[in-house]
Amino acid sequence: MKPIKAGLLGVGTVGAGTFHVLQRNQEEIRRRAGRGIEVAMVAARDLERARRVIGLKGGGEDVEVVGDPFAVVNNPDIDIVVELIGGYELARELVLQAIANGKHVVTANKALLALHGNEIFEAAQAKGVMVAFEAAVAGGVPIIKALREGLSANRIESVAGIINGTTNFILSEMRDKGLDFGTVLKQAQELGYAEADPTFDIEGVDAAHKLTIMAAIAFGIPMQFASSHIEGISQLQAVDIRYAEQLGYRIKLLGITRRTVVDGAEGIELRVHPTLIPSARLIANVEGAMNAVLVKADAVGTTLYYGKGAGAEPTASAVIADLVDVTRLATVDPYQRVPHLAFQPAELADLPILPMEEIRTAYYLRVYVQDQLGVMADLTRILAEAGISIDAVLQKEPGEKARTDIVIITHQTREKFVNAAIAKIEALSTVVGKVVRIRLESLG
Ligand code: HSE
Repeated sequence: MKPIKAGLLGVGTVGAGTFHVLQRNQEEIRRRAGRGIEVAMVAARDLERARRVIGLKGGGEDVEVVGDPFAVVNNPDIDIVVELIGGYELARELVLQAIANGKHVVTANKALLALHGNEIFEAAQAKGVMVAFEAAVAGGVPIIKALREGLSANRIESVAGIINGTTNFILSEMRDKGLDFGTVLKQAQELGYAEADPTFDIEGVDAAHKLTIMAAIAFGIPMQFASSHIEGISQLQAVDIRYAEQLGYRIKLLGITRRTVVDGAEGIELRVHPTLIPSARLIANVEGAMNAVLVKADAVGTTLYYGKGAGAEPTASAVIADLVDVTRLATVDPYQRVPHLAFQPAELADLPILPMEEIRTAYYLRVYVQDQLGVMADLTRILAEAGISIDAVLQKEPGEKARTDIVIITHQTREKFVNAAIAKIEALSTVVGKVVRIRLESLG
């Protein structure tokens, strides 16, 4: 059988990795896919660089290199368009044009899918083509395949993941070496983990894109990025990393999505924020730029997926797995294929994403107080009146001006009760400044 022809949009880190792994493992890949997969065309802004990159290890001689990405999506000889340029608008236009031309699409673009996925999947469904996106979440970790296919017997209850390597690297280095945030961010950029605009990494936006995609597949709901709650790590203080450690916890930037019943009605939590996790949990020990996703489901129980979430070849591994899937299924009746979002399009549920006020979790609260008689009693009274039960308390020796930190770990409660309690605590005359609140998940 003739090889299937792919066109790459973009030959940056992931594009180059994809090209080289396809060349290196072509025989294995052909045996798996049932026919060869050939990169016939590449679109790049810098043509010289693109030719150099694909020629580097040989095998790039027959590839047509063009500057205009529309020349790839409009070329009738191309069967699969691999979108690796990132960003929103141009990527959206190219992907929709490729679909309109009847081509299958493989993309690593989480931002595109989190924001425009509903439109893209609808167009692909109407046209009977596949849009595959394993590389969009957790790089080389096959978490999309696991959620969409491996776990399809289950009712999925929750997904919690370290899905941004940059922030995990920063948090690991801050904790291990006592370095400050800015120094470690610079290292992460030099190592090539960070997005072009690192605010997407450090403010949790990149993780929220990935979480939005996982929530859609896990629960069979449309992409709802706009309803996600996003907090990054730029406000996190070294002192809280230390206190957390003394109390037996590590702080990770987690993306969490779960089913929750609030006042008898079911909804979905969709949130990214720094989170205390008991140090003994496997996921708390995922360090450096590694990614890990913990899935809780009713039949299988808890499963954990771990690996490299970025980098040329780990991400290429996911892109090529999609290319193999598309190659195998290209000639299959579209109704026999795995649905884009795991559930049949007509079966998507309209479960609401819960407002943050309604989520249930436990909390780490750090209160800076004047060390006076009755302060602790005031704090515990306010929490008790709000119906919040205390799990642990840590009080430090008084320091400057007889002020000290009191750290309180609560049991699970609702965010709105904690908001109300924090407002009352901050109004006490003995409390200095703002209460630091970090959510805590036992992930038991
Ligand atoms: N910037 C991302 C991260 C890599 O740090 O995990 C690709 O999604």
